[in-house]
Amino acid sequence: MDASTETLTKTRVTALPGDGIGPEVMAATLQILEAAKAPIEWEAAEAGAVCFNKGSVTGVPRETLDSIARNGLALKSPLETPVGFGGKSANVTLRKHFELYANIRPVRELPGVTTPFTGRGIDMVIVRENVEDVYAGIEHMQTTTVAQCLKLMTAPGCERIIRAAFALALAEQRKTVTTATKANIMKLTEGMMKRVSERVGLEFPEFRQEHIIIDNCAHQLVVAPEQFDVIVTSNMNGDIISDLAAGLVGGLGIAPSSNLGDHAAMFEAVHGSAPQIAGKGLANPTALLSAAIMLLRHISAFGVAEQIEQALFITLAEGKNLTGDLSPKGHGVGTAAFTEQVISNLGRSSNLPSRQYSRLALQAWPQLTAHTEPTTRELVGIDVFLESDMGSDEIGQALETLAQDSPFRLNGVSNRGVQVFPATGGQTFLVDHFAARFLFKHPITLDSSSANGQPEISYLVQRIGTRFAWMHIEKLQRFDGKDAFERPQGEG
Ligand code: NAI
Ligand code: MG
Repeated sequence: MDASTETLTKTRVTALPGDGIGPEVMAATLQILEAAKAPIEWEAAEAGAVCFNKGSVTGVPRETLDSIARNGLALKSPLETPVGFGGKSANVTLRKHFELYANIRPVRELPGVTTPFTGRGIDMVIVRENVEDVYAGIEHMQTTTVAQCLKLMTAPGCERIIRAAFALALAEQRKTVTTATKANIMKLTEGMMKRVSERVGLEFPEFRQEHIIIDNCAHQLVVAPEQFDVIVTSNMNGDIISDLAAGLVGGLGIAPSSNLGDHAAMFEAVHGSAPQIAGKGLANPTALLSAAIMLLRHISAFGVAEQIEQALFITLAEGKNLTGDLSPKGHGVGTAAFTEQVISNLGRSSNLPSRQYSRLALQAWPQLTAHTEPTTRELVGIDVFLESDMGSDEIGQALETLAQDSPFRLNGVSNRGVQVFPATGGQTFLVDHFAARFLFKHPITLDSSSANGQPEISYLVQRIGTRFAWMHIEKLQRFDGKDAFERPQGEG
């Protein structure tokens, strides 16, 4: 599309200038977009340190949330997470408030930015699930020495991120979608993402589809990064490999990202507020500018996006007037001179690689097919987690006695996921946190709203409580005859 035909209607976008170098890279970015006649009307809003300093608890005031909610779009500079306020990061608050579940991180070799991988043709996008997994922050100390964090993954959460990956592959005419998981170890959580990707993938036969174990993915990213096209992965895995991948093409300082949800999209640089160089006019606006280019494509302003991207690429490739982080020592210029250089290159076209983009269409929540309910659901037992300094045999024998006259039998006791009773002969280091697995002598059928079995559980837990301090209980279920829980290491 011709850039000039896109400028008729303007889209309103919330601009968050942020902290540290934030206002400087934002000003530079807006200046370039203005010069390119990008069809955007900006609405400035505050977030981050400025707001914490004014006494805001979250760092994101109501007016800012309202502005983003109204516009559905935001361009965000880095926000500081002040140390000592004890509060949550304003970035995370924004992501969660708007349920921005898809974190899109393009990783592409930039012209003129030389790295050990230059010339390999790295051009991939990492699609990271952004709100689930261990990042829900549900953590509990179990005993004074044992910490626990819940890794929650959901069928709809997996489905929407997998669908986002395919939507992105379609929008960018990519060929391969690789799902990276740790399904070999975490069969239920990470395995869910793998299974969902295999099911949803059937709807997209036009793409090559692969599954890769996440640690091998990290290895392959360093050994042969050019093989990857779209990688989709869970929150924690994506956090790590997206930083790793950014490092392959020149580091976090030039990497953009978007955070997409059903109702809002937020575009940002990956880097932070760089307090060491803040206010000195030295910051490189490339990352935020690249995020703004993603924003332009998101609102279908493809021509302007392409024009700005070409101007940026030409500037980087020619190496004239680059900021200090991209120049040999002593040869860097300031933010303003770099910005002028990009503006002066607007309208020039080059033979640098460019890509055909179309609108990225996310499938909204109610359209997800989610999963199919099992026809049968049984309660087969419980795990009772307890604190004890006693030896394994002593614990096992005591629990067997306590379970007599109950509808349960003790199946075994484990410590940090390894069976220790009945003893297996393994050499397990013991902490004061054990899991006792009790199985119903006769499994109980559950209908969908069923609380069946709970009186029996209460009875057993009450008996256990006469001798042990228990921490928490997990129900053991079977869906369609298949165990919906894992077995401890060493269980026969
Ligand atoms: P940082 O990304 O701010 O800085 C790391 C290094 O990269 C520093 O040497 C810095 O000078 C350099 N750098 C970063 N961006 C640059 C740019 N545009 N031009 C030239 N050099 C650049 O990471 P750091 O120091 O860990 O974090 C500083 C603050 O930023 C913290 O308060 C942190 O919480 C916040 N932060 C915010 C993020 C966000 O808003 N998404 C992301 C990461 C950190
Ligand atoms: Mg990170």
